[in-house]
Amino acid sequence: MTEVASVLFGREDIRRRVQELGRTITGDYVGREPVLVTVLRGGAVFLADLMRHVDLKVEPHFMAVSRYGAAEESLGRVRILLDLDVDLEGRDVLMVEDIVDTGLTLSYLMGVLRARRPASLEVVALLNKSVRRIAPLAPRYAGFDCPDRFVVGYGLDFRERYRNLPDILQVDDLTTLEAEPDAIVVPPLAPRP
Ligand code: IMP
Ligand code: MG
Repeated sequence: MTEVASVLFGREDIRRRVQELGRTITGDYVGREPVLVTVLRGGAVFLADLMRHVDLKVEPHFMAVSRYGAAEESLGRVRILLDLDVDLEGRDVLMVEDIVDTGLTLSYLMGVLRARRPASLEVVALLNKSVRRIAPLAPRYAGFDCPDRFVVGYGLDFRERYRNLPDILQVDDLTTLEAEPDAIVVPPLAPRP
């Protein structure tokens, strides 16, 4: 029997890559105090790890959005459920995303934030599913290029499950998972001595 999902990026690879991204961002933003904008809920895990590798004064802020139907149908129009309570004018804004897929959600949000006249606006995405891109958008920083597979773990969900997995898993059998959302057998969260 084949497994429903398999590890795509393990926790150790993620840790190393997030650390590298943090160092790069630290170097690029030296002397500045970036506002890190994360879209709930998927991006929260990445933000929590990333910001601890950014050796600058940073402010984490959160937004929540919901899509109007499938992104393709709605051309990425999203409803803002939770807006920022920080003035972005003149600030260096770095959007922290778990994954950029079609890019429609993010490009819409970037339009909204750009209208608030930040000094700069960039994106750091842990995963870049570049083959699926519809909106003309390339994250300034990307952790891993992601194959055209549905992925879960490290903040990413399937129907609100699996966000707490320390690894990123690719779904190999989406049909089974659709029928049985709990089908992914969760490995122990930490190795036992
Ligand atoms: P986009 O507008 O198509 O780029 O959608 C991006 C959002 O869709 C991400 O922030 C995720 O919430 C969700 N998403 C896209 N691909 C995946 C995936 O493979 N697994 C879990 N969520 C995904
Ligand atoms: Mg998301």
